[in-house]
Amino acid sequence: MAKEPMRVLVTGAAGQIGYALVPMIARGVMLGADQPVILHMLDIPPAAEALNGVKMELVDAAFPLLKGVVATTDVVEACTGVNVAVMVGGFPRKEGMERKDVMSKNVSIYKGQASALEAHAAPNCKVLVVANPANTNALILKEFAPSIPERNVTCLTRLDHNRALGQISERLNVQVSDVKNVIIWGNHSSSQYPDVNHATVKTSSGDKPVRELVADDEWLNGEFITTVQQRGAAIIKARKFSSALSAASSACDHIRDWVLGTPEGTFVSMGVYSDGSYGVPAGLIYSFPVTCSGGEWKIVQGLPIDEFSRKKMDATAQELSEEKALAYSCLE
Ligand code: NAD
Ligand code: LMR
Repeated sequence: MAKEPMRVLVTGAAGQIGYALVPMIARGVMLGADQPVILHMLDIPPAAEALNGVKMELVDAAFPLLKGVVATTDVVEACTGVNVAVMVGGFPRKEGMERKDVMSKNVSIYKGQASALEAHAAPNCKVLVVANPANTNALILKEFAPSIPERNVTCLTRLDHNRALGQISERLNVQVSDVKNVIIWGNHSSSQYPDVNHATVKTSSGDKPVRELVADDEWLNGEFITTVQQRGAAIIKARKFSSALSAASSACDHIRDWVLGTPEGTFVSMGVYSDGSYGVPAGLIYSFPVTCSGGEWKIVQGLPIDEFSRKKMDATAQELSEEKALAYSCLE
């Protein structure tokens, strides 16, 4: 029997990531090739005409799984009945704007949209925040939507995770699908800590540690980390726009694994509400290694943490605590 359609909200749908993301969702990349979807697309009034153009293209593409499209500038209409919410909309940093100005604009958007989601989304709606500052926007959304379970509010660090897999695959000249269990700890910012201490590569004689195969700790503890940390800036420099297709694809990976489960023996990185695991202060949205099953994520426990990692994990937690304080000062 055909499945009931799931309603998927994409905010900022007239933007660059939105334009890459909505066809992926309509093709089944996010929720599976047998899962019909109804797309809810939200943007702001100045982008309404462009948003309507995206809707026209979705109709023209005749996606078999796409059972309906809502394109609106009304946040309540956009949020009504949605099962998955991908929050991409936000205010970009403009010339002359201070970090605090960008933070101020975005956290007030996320405070407002939290209330609309809380009041109108389907029960158990899963939320993924993509827009920057992603961890702190997600935290504000969680705190201003108290009836949405905290485990349902996450942010995107899967792009950083995939970037780390890509760097290892290029360095070792192996298939990216044979590399697994890298970890992104912390913030989706240049303070994040990409960690390969538990990562492996599938070889003809079984899974081998990345550290053993790369055999160059100087590279793994230096250039590898900074390349992943600064990849977003490198893409902006090259394209003059921030990453879009890789962000959209990673958002699909994040939701697909959350809803349909991670493969046995594989963990992925998700920004989730900290419960104090690994000594990370509770009350931050922090990227951890997780496994998913039955629609729930679980932080991978018991991984040994060396002194080098500890310092980097603490530094990115410290940055998130400062962002949280700044966000609250903006909302006062
Ligand atoms: P964009 O500027 O092309 O698109 C953003 C869209 O959001 C625009 O269409 C804008 O009109 C809309 N918007 C603004 N305010 C809104 C509101 N209140 N409600 C709904 N829509 C609103 O930007 P983009 O390149 O698509 O990037 C979107 C966000 O994602 C940015 O914040 C970017 O920094 C972030 N990003 C995050 C990651 C990640 O891995 N977490 C990766 C890449 C980009
Ligand atoms: C990215 O990681 O590509 C983006 O978050 C960069 C940005 O500032 O938009």
